[in-house]
Amino acid sequence: MRSPSEDRAGAKQPGPRRSVLVTGGNRGIGLATALRLRESGHKVAVTYRRGAPPDGFFAVRCDIRDNEELTHAVKHVKESQGAPEIIVANAGMLHESAMNATSDADFDDLIETNTKSALRLARLGIGGMLRARWGRLIYISSMAAFSGAPGVTAYAASKAALLGMTRTLAWELGRHGITVNVVVPGLIDTEMTQHLNEDQRDWYLRGTPLARTGTADEVAAAVGFLADESASFITGATVPVSGGLGVGL
Ligand SMILES: NC(=O)c1ccc[n+]([C@@H]2O[C@H](COP(=O)([O-])OP(=O)(O)OC[C@H]3O[C@@H](n4cnc5c(N)ncnc54)[C@H](OP(=O)(O)O)[C@@H]3O)[C@@H](O)[C@H]2O)c1
Repeated sequence: MRSPSEDRAGAKQPGPRRSVLVTGGNRGIGLATALRLRESGHKVAVTYRRGAPPDGFFAVRCDIRDNEELTHAVKHVKESQGAPEIIVANAGMLHESAMNATSDADFDDLIETNTKSALRLARLGIGGMLRARWGRLIYISSMAAFSGAPGVTAYAASKAALLGMTRTLAWELGRHGITVNVVVPGLIDTEMTQHLNEDQRDWYLRGTPLARTGTADEVAAAVGFLADESASFITGATVPVSGGLGVGL
């Protein structure tokens, strides 16, 4: 059977040009995702917090822990390119410390950044998708949510929450034509993992069948697939991009 985006000769036709919002789109996985979705022909806006905005995108400075800033960011995107139809909740932080050295403040910061902001973003950004009866909400969790790792109690908890959130939102939003999925990266070469020492890297690589780290582009490819028109019957899915780290967990 031909998919709706194929013509009679079977050639893939370009899909509609969607309004996209990627949080933390100034570097790493977020920037790779923004570039990929722009290559697919979409109008892509990004949020950034520190430093300069990336070239060539509509960019809004925003600390995702701050509800007011997040509200403004979504409003600016709507005004500039239309209400988002594809949202990639990518911005996140890693804080490592042993369980008994993890303060309540550290824990709260991780939950605010990695978990609460993801729920707020859905609340703020979903309006256009509901009206269009079409949408893609994509979360970025972490293999730490499945396999854990030394020193990441709070990070793993903040990322595990996204799995339950994804599955619940898939139920709540499915009948409105909105899919909700979560991508689960393993060890990816970005600024977030630059501080790892050799022993830590070895620890991860010993558990990774492909025996290497991944790239931001490899994660972006999975996000790009889930955002595509052709991924229309995939929702509530957990998609690992981990070189096999944590497979079967
Ligand atoms: N790299 C990995 O191995 C790996 C593995 C599993 C999951 N992940 C997840 O993938 C996502 C992207 O990480 P990455 O590897 O690309 O790391 P990264 O290079 O450190 O990028 C993190 C991004 O999040 C943004 N961010 C962090 N806290 C923020 C805040 N409070 N407000 C607004 N923006 C904030 C950063 O913006 P600024 O630069 O402006 O602060 C940056 O754009 C994260 O959710 C991370 O947990 C990464």
